[in-house]
Amino acid sequence: MDIQKMCKSLPKIELHAHLNGSLSTETLKKLHRLHNPNDNNYPEIFSLGEKEFLDENGKPVPPLRLCFQTFAAIQKLTITSESLYLATCEVIREFSEDNVIYLELRSTPRKVEGLLTKVEYIEAIILAIKECAKKYPTILVKLLISVDRKQGCQNAEENIDLAIKFMKKYPSYIVGIDLSGEPTMGDAFLHLLETSREAGLKIAAHCAEVPNEEEIMRILNFKPDRLGHCTCVHPNLKGSEKLFNELLKSKIPVELCLTSNVKCETVPSYALHQFKYYYEAGHPICIATDDKGVFDTTLSAEFEIICNQFGCEKHDLIKLSKSAVSYSFASEEEKVKLLSIIEQHQ
Ligand code: IMP
Ligand code: ZN
Repeated sequence: MDIQKMCKSLPKIELHAHLNGSLSTETLKKLHRLHNPNDNNYPEIFSLGEKEFLDENGKPVPPLRLCFQTFAAIQKLTITSESLYLATCEVIREFSEDNVIYLELRSTPRKVEGLLTKVEYIEAIILAIKECAKKYPTILVKLLISVDRKQGCQNAEENIDLAIKFMKKYPSYIVGIDLSGEPTMGDAFLHLLETSREAGLKIAAHCAEVPNEEEIMRILNFKPDRLGHCTCVHPNLKGSEKLFNELLKSKIPVELCLTSNVKCETVPSYALHQFKYYYEAGHPICIATDDKGVFDTTLSAEFEIICNQFGCEKHDLIKLSKSAVSYSFASEEEKVKLLSIIEQHQ
Protein backbone atom coordinates (compact mmCIF):
# COMPACT_ATOMS: atom_id res chain seq x y z
CA MET A 1 0.00 0.00 0.00
CA ASP A 2 1.36 3.45 -0.79
CA ILE A 3 1.99 5.95 2.03
CA GLN A 4 -1.01 8.12 1.19
CA LYS A 5 -3.47 5.21 1.31
CA MET A 6 -1.89 3.80 4.45
CA CYS A 7 -2.17 7.17 6.26
CA LYS A 8 -5.78 7.60 5.20
CA SER A 9 -6.83 4.10 6.24
CA LEU A 10 -5.36 4.29 9.76
CA PRO A 11 -7.78 5.14 12.59
CA LYS A 12 -6.61 8.54 13.81
CA ILE A 13 -6.90 10.76 16.88
CA GLU A 14 -7.24 14.56 16.41
CA LEU A 15 -6.54 16.58 19.55
CA HIS A 16 -6.01 20.09 18.18
CA ALA A 17 -8.68 21.45 15.81
CA HIS A 18 -10.22 24.94 15.98
CA LEU A 19 -13.80 24.84 14.72
CA ASN A 20 -13.81 27.96 12.53
CA GLY A 21 -10.33 27.29 11.17
CA SER A 22 -11.39 23.77 10.21
CA LEU A 23 -14.16 24.81 7.78
CA SER A 24 -13.48 23.63 4.25
CA THR A 25 -14.12 25.87 1.22
CA GLU A 26 -17.13 23.69 0.42
CA THR A 27 -18.57 24.38 3.90
CA LEU A 28 -17.82 28.12 3.68
CA LYS A 29 -19.78 28.23 0.42
CA LYS A 30 -22.72 26.45 2.06
CA LEU A 31 -22.62 28.96 4.93
CA HIS A 32 -22.47 31.90 2.54
CA ARG A 33 -25.54 30.54 0.72
CA LEU A 34 -27.34 30.03 4.04
CA HIS A 35 -26.88 33.70 4.98
CA ASN A 36 -27.27 35.07 1.43
CA PRO A 37 -29.72 32.80 -0.43
CA ASN A 38 -29.89 35.14 -3.43
CA ASP A 39 -26.19 35.89 -3.78
CA ASN A 40 -24.12 33.49 -5.85
CA ASN A 41 -20.98 35.62 -5.55
CA TYR A 42 -19.04 33.70 -3.01
CA PRO A 43 -16.59 35.99 -1.15
CA GLU A 44 -12.99 34.98 -1.57
CA ILE A 45 -11.66 33.32 1.56
CA PHE A 46 -8.27 31.97 0.71
CA SER A 47 -6.11 29.12 1.84
CA LEU A 48 -2.86 30.26 3.34
CA GLY A 49 0.11 30.04 1.02
CA GLU A 50 -2.04 30.43 -2.11
CA LYS A 51 -0.93 33.94 -2.89
CA GLU A 52 0.67 37.02 -1.37
CA PHE A 53 -1.55 39.60 0.35
CA LEU A 54 -0.51 43.23 0.69
CA ASP A 55 -1.31 45.67 3.49
CA GLU A 56 -2.48 49.29 3.01
CA ASN A 57 1.15 50.36 2.42
CA GLY A 58 1.71 47.75 -0.27
CA LYS A 59 3.84 45.54 1.99
CA PRO A 60 3.21 41.78 2.20
CA VAL A 61 1.13 40.87 5.27
CA PRO A 62 3.17 38.43 7.41
CA PRO A 63 1.60 34.93 7.20
CA LEU A 64 0.91 34.66 10.95
CA ARG A 65 -1.02 37.97 10.88
CA LEU A 66 -2.80 36.94 7.69
CA CYS A 67 -3.94 33.75 9.30
CA PHE A 68 -5.72 35.69 12.05
CA GLN A 69 -7.31 38.02 9.48
CA THR A 70 -8.61 34.88 7.75
CA PHE A 71 -10.20 33.61 10.99
CA ALA A 72 -12.01 36.93 11.36
CA ALA A 73 -13.38 36.64 7.79
CA ILE A 74 -14.55 33.07 8.38
CA GLN A 75 -16.18 33.95 11.71
CA LYS A 76 -18.52 36.31 9.81
CA LEU A 77 -20.14 33.17 8.37
CA THR A 78 -20.87 31.50 11.73
CA ILE A 79 -23.09 34.11 13.34
CA THR A 80 -26.30 32.18 14.06
CA SER A 81 -27.16 28.91 15.82
CA GLU A 82 -28.12 27.45 12.46
CA SER A 83 -24.82 28.29 10.77
CA LEU A 84 -22.78 27.04 13.74
CA TYR A 85 -24.75 23.81 13.76
CA LEU A 86 -24.15 23.32 10.04
CA ALA A 87 -20.45 24.23 10.36
CA THR A 88 -19.91 21.77 13.22
CA CYS A 89 -21.72 18.92 11.41
CA GLU A 90 -19.63 19.47 8.27
CA VAL A 91 -16.36 19.49 10.22
CA ILE A 92 -17.29 16.27 12.03
CA ARG A 93 -18.31 14.62 8.74
CA GLU A 94 -15.03 15.56 7.07
CA PHE A 95 -12.87 14.34 9.94
CA SER A 96 -14.87 11.13 10.03
CA GLU A 97 -14.35 10.64 6.28
CA ASP A 98 -10.62 10.95 6.96
CA ASN A 99 -10.92 8.01 9.40
CA VAL A 100 -10.52 10.15 12.50
CA ILE A 101 -12.13 8.13 15.31
CA TYR A 102 -11.73 10.69 18.08
CA LEU A 103 -11.94 14.45 17.65
CA GLU A 104 -11.43 17.19 20.21
CA LEU A 105 -12.85 20.34 18.69
CA ARG A 106 -12.15 23.68 20.29
CA SER A 107 -13.97 26.97 19.75
CA THR A 108 -14.23 30.49 21.18
CA PRO A 109 -17.82 31.33 22.23
CA ARG A 110 -18.85 34.51 20.46
CA LYS A 111 -21.72 36.93 21.00
CA VAL A 112 -23.18 38.45 17.83
CA GLU A 113 -25.42 41.42 18.62
CA GLY A 114 -29.06 40.58 17.94
CA LEU A 115 -28.24 37.15 16.48
CA LEU A 116 -26.39 34.95 18.94
CA THR A 117 -25.43 34.74 22.61
CA LYS A 118 -22.40 32.84 23.93
CA VAL A 119 -24.77 30.31 25.52
CA GLU A 120 -26.50 29.74 22.15
CA TYR A 121 -23.08 29.46 20.50
CA ILE A 122 -22.08 26.56 22.74
CA GLU A 123 -25.52 24.94 22.61
CA ALA A 124 -25.50 24.90 18.80
CA ILE A 125 -22.16 23.08 18.77
CA ILE A 126 -23.30 20.59 21.42
CA LEU A 127 -26.50 19.87 19.49
CA ALA A 128 -24.43 19.20 16.36
CA ILE A 129 -22.09 16.87 18.28
CA LYS A 130 -25.09 14.97 19.68
CA GLU A 131 -26.81 14.61 16.31
CA CYS A 132 -23.58 13.61 14.59
CA ALA A 133 -23.05 10.82 17.12
CA LYS A 134 -26.03 9.13 15.42
CA LYS A 135 -25.12 10.09 11.85
CA TYR A 136 -21.39 9.31 12.06
CA PRO A 137 -21.10 6.63 14.75
CA THR A 138 -17.42 5.87 14.05
CA ILE A 139 -16.20 9.22 15.42
CA LEU A 140 -16.35 10.32 19.06
CA VAL A 141 -16.36 14.11 19.50
CA LYS A 142 -15.61 16.35 22.49
CA LEU A 143 -15.48 20.13 22.88
CA LEU A 144 -12.95 22.44 24.51
CA ILE A 145 -14.02 26.01 25.18
CA SER A 146 -11.41 28.48 23.95
CA VAL A 147 -10.14 31.59 25.67
CA ASP A 148 -8.79 34.12 23.18
CA ARG A 149 -5.73 35.83 24.67
CA LYS A 150 -6.53 39.02 22.74
CA GLN A 151 -10.11 39.42 23.99
CA GLY A 152 -9.30 40.58 27.53
CA CYS A 153 -9.98 39.42 31.05
CA GLN A 154 -13.77 39.85 31.06
CA ASN A 155 -14.21 37.61 28.02
CA ALA A 156 -11.81 35.06 29.45
CA GLU A 157 -13.81 35.01 32.69
CA GLU A 158 -17.12 34.69 30.82
CA ASN A 159 -15.86 31.80 28.69
CA ILE A 160 -14.45 29.95 31.69
CA ASP A 161 -17.69 30.43 33.68
CA LEU A 162 -19.65 29.07 30.73
CA ALA A 163 -17.27 26.15 30.30
CA ILE A 164 -17.73 25.20 33.96
CA LYS A 165 -21.53 25.49 33.73
CA PHE A 166 -21.70 23.47 30.51
CA MET A 167 -19.28 20.85 31.82
CA LYS A 168 -21.71 20.24 34.69
CA LYS A 169 -24.65 19.98 32.27
CA TYR A 170 -22.88 17.97 29.55
CA PRO A 171 -19.90 16.24 31.21
CA SER A 172 -19.47 13.82 28.31
CA TYR A 173 -19.08 16.63 25.74
CA ILE A 174 -17.35 19.57 27.44
CA VAL A 175 -13.98 18.39 28.64
CA GLY A 176 -11.57 21.29 28.75
CA ILE A 177 -10.33 24.78 28.11
CA ASP A 178 -8.08 25.88 25.24
CA LEU A 179 -5.90 28.94 25.55
CA SER A 180 -5.36 30.34 22.05
CA GLY A 181 -5.47 33.52 19.95
CA GLU A 182 -2.87 35.72 18.32
CA PRO A 183 0.31 34.79 20.19
CA THR A 184 1.90 38.23 20.03
CA MET A 185 -1.06 39.82 21.82
CA GLY A 186 -2.88 39.79 25.14
CA ASP A 187 -2.35 37.52 28.10
CA ALA A 188 -2.37 33.85 29.07
CA PHE A 189 -4.82 34.43 31.99
CA LEU A 190 -3.23 31.66 34.02
CA HIS A 191 -5.00 32.69 37.24
CA LEU A 192 -8.34 32.14 35.47
CA LEU A 193 -7.21 28.86 33.97
CA GLU A 194 -6.46 27.72 37.52
CA THR A 195 -10.16 28.23 38.38
CA SER A 196 -11.21 25.99 35.52
CA ARG A 197 -8.68 23.37 36.51
CA GLU A 198 -10.03 23.35 40.07
CA ALA A 199 -13.53 22.87 38.61
CA GLY A 200 -12.35 19.71 36.84
CA LEU A 201 -11.72 20.94 33.30
CA LYS A 202 -8.57 19.83 31.48
CA ILE A 203 -6.33 22.51 29.99
CA ALA A 204 -4.66 22.66 26.58
CA ALA A 205 -2.57 25.80 26.15
CA HIS A 206 -0.93 27.18 23.01
CA CYS A 207 2.66 27.83 23.95
CA ALA A 208 5.81 29.27 22.34
CA GLU A 209 4.38 30.02 18.89
CA VAL A 210 6.62 33.09 19.05
CA PRO A 211 9.74 33.63 21.19
CA ASN A 212 8.90 34.83 24.70
CA GLU A 213 11.00 33.05 27.31
CA GLU A 214 9.32 34.66 30.30
CA GLU A 215 5.79 33.68 29.25
CA ILE A 216 6.84 30.20 28.10
CA MET A 217 8.35 29.53 31.53
CA ARG A 218 5.16 30.74 33.24
CA ILE A 219 3.03 28.41 31.09
CA LEU A 220 5.37 25.46 31.72
CA ASN A 221 5.31 26.11 35.47
CA PHE A 222 1.51 26.18 35.35
CA LYS A 223 1.63 22.60 33.97
CA PRO A 224 -1.30 22.47 31.52
CA ASP A 225 -2.48 18.96 30.59
CA ARG A 226 -1.27 19.52 27.02
CA LEU A 227 0.63 22.19 25.14
CA GLY A 228 0.07 23.39 21.57
CA HIS A 229 2.99 23.86 19.14
CA CYS A 230 5.96 24.64 21.47
CA THR A 231 7.81 25.99 18.45
CA CYS A 232 10.24 28.51 19.94
CA VAL A 233 11.58 26.20 22.64
CA HIS A 234 14.60 24.46 21.09
CA PRO A 235 17.72 26.68 20.76
CA ASN A 236 17.69 26.16 16.95
CA LEU A 237 14.16 27.60 16.78
CA LYS A 238 14.62 30.81 18.79
CA GLY A 239 14.29 29.04 22.15
CA SER A 240 17.06 28.07 24.55
CA GLU A 241 18.71 25.05 26.18
CA LYS A 242 16.97 26.04 29.41
CA LEU A 243 13.49 26.08 27.85
CA PHE A 244 14.04 22.84 25.96
CA ASN A 245 15.27 21.03 29.08
CA GLU A 246 12.40 22.41 31.17
CA LEU A 247 9.86 21.18 28.64
CA LEU A 248 11.43 17.71 28.42
CA LYS A 249 11.50 17.54 32.21
CA SER A 250 7.81 18.47 32.41
CA LYS A 251 6.79 15.52 30.18
CA ILE A 252 3.70 17.52 29.11
CA PRO A 253 2.41 16.19 25.77
CA VAL A 254 2.83 18.59 22.87
CA GLU A 255 0.33 18.86 19.99
CA LEU A 256 2.32 19.35 16.77
CA CYS A 257 0.69 20.91 13.70
CA LEU A 258 3.35 20.84 10.98
CA THR A 259 1.55 22.44 8.04
CA SER A 260 0.14 25.19 10.25
CA ASN A 261 3.63 26.14 11.44
CA VAL A 262 5.20 25.94 7.98
CA LYS A 263 2.43 28.03 6.36
CA CYS A 264 2.51 30.61 9.19
CA GLU A 265 6.31 30.63 8.76
CA THR A 266 6.98 30.15 12.47
CA VAL A 267 9.35 27.37 11.30
CA PRO A 268 11.52 27.59 8.16
CA SER A 269 10.48 24.22 6.65
CA TYR A 270 9.00 20.78 7.38
CA ALA A 271 12.50 19.32 7.68
CA LEU A 272 13.39 21.86 10.38
CA HIS A 273 10.12 21.55 12.30
CA GLN A 274 10.31 21.00 16.08
CA PHE A 275 8.83 17.53 15.50
CA LYS A 276 12.38 16.37 14.93
CA TYR A 277 13.68 17.48 18.33
CA TYR A 278 10.76 16.16 20.36
CA TYR A 279 10.57 12.87 18.47
CA GLU A 280 14.28 12.21 18.83
CA ALA A 281 14.12 13.08 22.54
CA GLY A 282 11.20 10.67 23.06
CA HIS A 283 9.04 13.52 24.39
CA PRO A 284 5.24 12.84 24.36
CA ILE A 285 3.77 14.28 21.15
CA CYS A 286 0.72 13.96 18.96
CA ILE A 287 0.09 15.11 15.38
CA ALA A 288 -2.79 17.49 14.65
CA THR A 289 -4.20 19.78 11.94
CA ASP A 290 -4.86 23.02 13.91
CA ASP A 291 -7.01 24.62 11.17
CA LYS A 292 -7.51 22.13 8.36
CA GLY A 293 -9.57 24.63 6.30
CA VAL A 294 -7.26 27.62 6.52
CA PHE A 295 -4.13 25.50 6.04
CA ASP A 296 -5.74 23.19 3.47
CA THR A 297 -4.69 19.96 5.12
CA THR A 298 -6.06 16.75 6.67
CA LEU A 299 -4.80 14.60 9.51
CA SER A 300 -3.86 11.92 6.95
CA ALA A 301 -1.81 14.51 5.06
CA GLU A 302 0.02 15.44 8.28
CA PHE A 303 0.81 11.75 8.87
CA GLU A 304 2.09 11.50 5.32
CA ILE A 305 4.40 14.46 5.93
CA ILE A 306 6.06 12.83 8.94
CA CYS A 307 6.51 9.63 6.91
CA ASN A 308 8.15 11.48 4.03
CA GLN A 309 10.20 13.93 6.10
CA PHE A 310 11.23 11.86 9.08
CA GLY A 311 10.98 8.28 7.87
CA CYS A 312 8.05 7.28 10.08
CA GLU A 313 6.42 3.98 9.16
CA LYS A 314 3.05 2.41 9.81
CA HIS A 315 4.03 1.00 13.21
CA ASP A 316 5.35 4.45 14.28
CA LEU A 317 2.06 6.07 13.28
CA ILE A 318 0.09 3.47 15.21
CA LYS A 319 2.29 4.10 18.23
CA LEU A 320 1.68 7.86 17.92
CA SER A 321 -2.08 7.29 17.65
CA LYS A 322 -2.11 5.04 20.70
CA SER A 323 -0.21 7.55 22.79
CA ALA A 324 -2.54 10.32 21.53
CA VAL A 325 -5.41 8.31 23.05
CA SER A 326 -3.68 8.44 26.42
CA TYR A 327 -3.14 12.23 26.14
CA SER A 328 -6.78 12.79 25.14
CA PHE A 329 -9.47 14.11 27.47
CA ALA A 330 -11.71 11.09 26.85
CA SER A 331 -12.92 8.96 29.77
CA GLU A 332 -10.94 5.85 30.75
CA GLU A 333 -13.68 3.65 29.32
CA GLU A 334 -13.63 5.56 26.02
CA LYS A 335 -9.84 5.28 25.87
CA VAL A 336 -10.04 1.48 26.16
CA LYS A 337 -12.49 1.38 23.22
CA LEU A 338 -10.37 3.72 21.09
CA LEU A 339 -7.23 1.68 21.76
CA SER A 340 -8.95 -1.53 20.74
CA ILE A 341 -10.04 0.05 17.41
CA ILE A 342 -6.45 1.12 16.71
CA GLU A 343 -5.08 -2.28 17.71
CA GLN A 344 -7.35 -4.00 15.19
CA HIS A 345 -5.40 -2.18 12.45
CA GLN A 346 -1.98 -3.45 13.49
P1 IMP B 1 -12.83 29.47 16.64
O1 IMP B 1 -12.36 29.55 18.07
O2 IMP B 1 -13.69 28.25 16.39
O3 IMP B 1 -13.48 30.74 16.18
O4 IMP B 1 -11.54 29.21 15.71
C1 IMP B 1 -10.69 30.23 15.28
C2 IMP B 1 -9.89 30.81 16.43
O5 IMP B 1 -8.98 29.82 16.92
C3 IMP B 1 -8.97 31.97 16.04
O6 IMP B 1 -9.66 33.20 16.05
C4 IMP B 1 -7.89 31.91 17.11
O7 IMP B 1 -8.30 32.54 18.31
C5 IMP B 1 -7.76 30.43 17.38
N1 IMP B 1 -6.64 29.85 16.61
C6 IMP B 1 -6.69 29.11 15.49
N2 IMP B 1 -5.44 28.74 15.10
C7 IMP B 1 -4.60 29.24 16.00
C8 IMP B 1 -3.18 29.19 16.15
O8 IMP B 1 -2.42 28.61 15.36
N3 IMP B 1 -2.66 29.86 17.21
C9 IMP B 1 -3.44 30.52 18.12
N4 IMP B 1 -4.77 30.58 18.02
C10 IMP B 1 -5.35 29.94 16.97
ZN1 ZN C 1 -4.13 26.11 17.45
